Amino acid sequence: MDYQSISVAPLSGAMGAEISGVDLSKNLSNQVFTEIHQALLENLVIVFHDQYLTPEACKLVAQKFGKLVKYPFVEGLHQHPEIFEIRKEPDEKKNFGGNWHSDMSFTELPPMGTMLYSLEVPSKGGDTMLTNLYLAYESLSEGLKSLLEDMEAEYSAALKHAGGRRNVMNATRFDVANLDRAEESFYHPIVRKHPETGQKALYISSGHLLRFKDMRVEESKPLLDFLKNHATQPDFTCRVKYRKGTLVLWDNRCTQHRALNDYHGERRVMHRLTIGATEF
Ligand code: SIN
Repeated sequence: MDYQSISVAPLSGAMGAEISGVDLSKNLSNQVFTEIHQALLENLVIVFHDQYLTPEACKLVAQKFGKLVKYPFVEGLHQHPEIFEIRKEPDEKKNFGGNWHSDMSFTELPPMGTMLYSLEVPSKGGDTMLTNLYLAYESLSEGLKSLLEDMEAEYSAALKHAGGRRNVMNATRFDVANLDRAEESFYHPIVRKHPETGQKALYISSGHLLRFKDMRVEESKPLLDFLKNHATQPDFTCRVKYRKGTLVLWDNRCTQHRALNDYHGERRVMHRLTIGATEF
């Protein structure tokens, strides 16, 4: 797209863009919002630095893209239950979202997007890495594409490989919620067509992906392991670097991400807002 109202600078050869020339605390005109929306569809993740936003202002930006949904396993902010805080303190070793995943792929209708707003960042590290699942799909052989075309896979929050959601969440300072729902799982197509771009993506959410439908876990594992590794090769990725006041928005329908945990001894605090989808 030829952008008239915003500037769009790529983050890597694979995906991601930094947007400048916008103050998100102001009312966005239709033209500016249309360009931001288009930048998201073209780049999969967009980054705005130096934004000074209250929780209300963050919600207004996110709501332009869709209805907010709650993350099921952590209590939201008292006055803004749709926002939850991702906080790692200097004395903590575990971080939240440290395995590759696409947000809430374990729900019946996974969210279209996720917004993170940085309140406090470490002096170095604490980036989010993302990977482009369109490229992951397009680079498969025609044979594997047609094998996967009609397959579904089971996505679960149970994190069986990591000792269970209950153990993982209870090891953090998060105010956890609904852990009785952690064993829920849902089936989704592993090749999905993006409802807005029409492009196909390999819907890999490594931390939540258990098995192919109608197959046992051990039968599914070799191909799933291949796909998980394939989807995260460096050529498909970008890194988001934060400053205080950075707002990031990614499209969960064609990306997965992980929070890097390379800043022990320092604090990192983010507000996360999750934007629901209307169709898969
Ligand atoms: C998440 O997976 O929602 C957290 C990502 C991050 O903190 O970088």
